Amino acid sequence: MPDTDFSEIAENQHSQALMSDKDLIQRVFDHIDQKSTDMGEQTWQEPTINYQNPERLKAEVALMRSKWIVFCPSNALKLAGEFIARDVAGVPLVVVRGSDGKVRAFRNACRHRGVQVADGQGCSKMFVCPYHGWSYGLDGTLRGVPHLNGFPNLEKKKQGLVPVACAEKDNLILVNQEADQQNTEILSDLSAIVPDGYSVIRTETSEIAANWKLHLESTLEGYHIRTTHNQTFFPVQYDNLNIVEAFGQNTRVSFPYQAIEGLRNKPLENWSTNGRLTLVYHLFPNVIISTFPDCMLVVILEPLGLELTRQHTFLLAPDSLDAAALDAVITGQEFARAGAVEDQAVVLSAQRGLASGANKYLNFGLYESGIVRFHSALTEELGQ
Ligand code: FES
Ligand SMILES: [Fe+2]
Repeated sequence: MPDTDFSEIAENQHSQALMSDKDLIQRVFDHIDQKSTDMGEQTWQEPTINYQNPERLKAEVALMRSKWIVFCPSNALKLAGEFIARDVAGVPLVVVRGSDGKVRAFRNACRHRGVQVADGQGCSKMFVCPYHGWSYGLDGTLRGVPHLNGFPNLEKKKQGLVPVACAEKDNLILVNQEADQQNTEILSDLSAIVPDGYSVIRTETSEIAANWKLHLESTLEGYHIRTTHNQTFFPVQYDNLNIVEAFGQNTRVSFPYQAIEGLRNKPLENWSTNGRLTLVYHLFPNVIISTFPDCMLVVILEPLGLELTRQHTFLLAPDSLDAAALDAVITGQEFARAGAVEDQAVVLSAQRGLASGANKYLNFGLYESGIVRFHSALTEELGQ
């Protein structure tokens, strides 16, 4: 390969690496001092039909089946036998940690007549179908068939649960419904996101009556802090002061707190983002991981329809926290929830705005470059 190609690759890798905490904080200080913010290079007009067309939604959900998508944090399935069953891009899956410690994913359908063999979240030694009692091991193999002589031609070895590619990487469990099980290479570097030593302290599922993209968009910019979050985030954060970084198709948006000023006089080695800014990682297309003081949220958006989105949320906190610090996390989450309610209100309103017919396009400006990256990647993936 000629020299020039090498430098191009190096350049590419460089531009995709996330900044260190110290560089990030310095960049925030520069923006505070210059009253500036990160700005994108292009604006974007997203056709409103792309939020309203069932064929477009089908294509987006199909894309989610073809990508490595975070299913849950590793810690949500810590022990052998722990499983979570839920739909991923419209397909019922069950993901379980085996007695060998390995995490596996299966299509959640009995090989007799398709009933789901696992329901919700739990810990089990095997999966027993609630219809006629066929049973499966944690590795998916068909173990038991009541009154087996009723199936003279059944090849038990071939009737295990159908596997789906599943990988555990950087404290996250990911699935890909179209990847070869053998080839579980995930290109994105996720190592900076979920540190070691964090445990899931709460799991929640909720629904919002809006298109999944409207919901996602509300998390990817800080241009709305002053107006939408006037009494919640605005008094403690900054309006329209964000750092936006790209890594692959993914984006990290940083939202500094005014408390970051406290670092100015501290030695560099004490500069930490914890409690000083919220980092929002958007893992393309439908996963958001965000950091808060001493905790983080892993959120997976599951589109249920053009105007309905299910949100799966895992709250993680460091194992090292004492009871008082854990209380502070819970209090902090109540505060964050107040902000989330404000976001929901504008998202529901934007959904009604689609029905108004006023706009052929939604406009995203230079301050909304995380969203511009999302739509341009989605457009490119769907070939439109
Ligand atoms: S459908 Fe599962 S045992 Fe019959
Ligand atoms: Fe918001």
